[in-house]
Amino acid sequence: MTLDFTLNGKPVLLECTADTRLTDILREHLARTATKLACGIGRCGACSVLINGRLANACLLMAFQLEGADIMTVEGLLAHPLGQAVREGLAEENAFQCGYCAPGVSLALVALFAEQPDAGEREIRAGLEGNLCRCTGYHSIIRGALNAASRIRTAQLR
Ligand code: FES
Ligand code: FES
Repeated sequence: MTLDFTLNGKPVLLECTADTRLTDILREHLARTATKLACGIGRCGACSVLINGRLANACLLMAFQLEGADIMTVEGLLAHPLGQAVREGLAEENAFQCGYCAPGVSLALVALFAEQPDAGEREIRAGLEGNLCRCTGYHSIIRGALNAASRIRTAQLR
């Protein structure tokens, strides 16, 4: 099929089979490798992307579901109004160890703060339930998320 969608604000047109997964479209067809593949079955959140502003697992989406979609990966983070605050909040708290979960966690936080600008620790923990960290660095990730939330409130990015 011919697939037409928007990736990080830019139009994309490519040929692929209808059952090609979004993780493969991004990583293999477009060489955008920041979106990670781990479990491949929707359990870990490593492949998290935003589809039309909503958090989704790229490993569960196929080409036939993506026609006309507005897709954001972590490569587009800084173009999002909340992206800088999320990145700086996480970086200042050294939130990650190996960093494999970082793209998914970052996008999960953007989705959360876009929907709940006043999210506190409870909402952040709930918002990150679908994102596993194999380095088990959850304390630093939560600190980073709280730091990002504080930056968003201070800058009134709501
Ligand atoms: S790789 Fe998609 S949820 Fe784990
Ligand atoms: S920092 Fe290594 S998986 Fe999260």
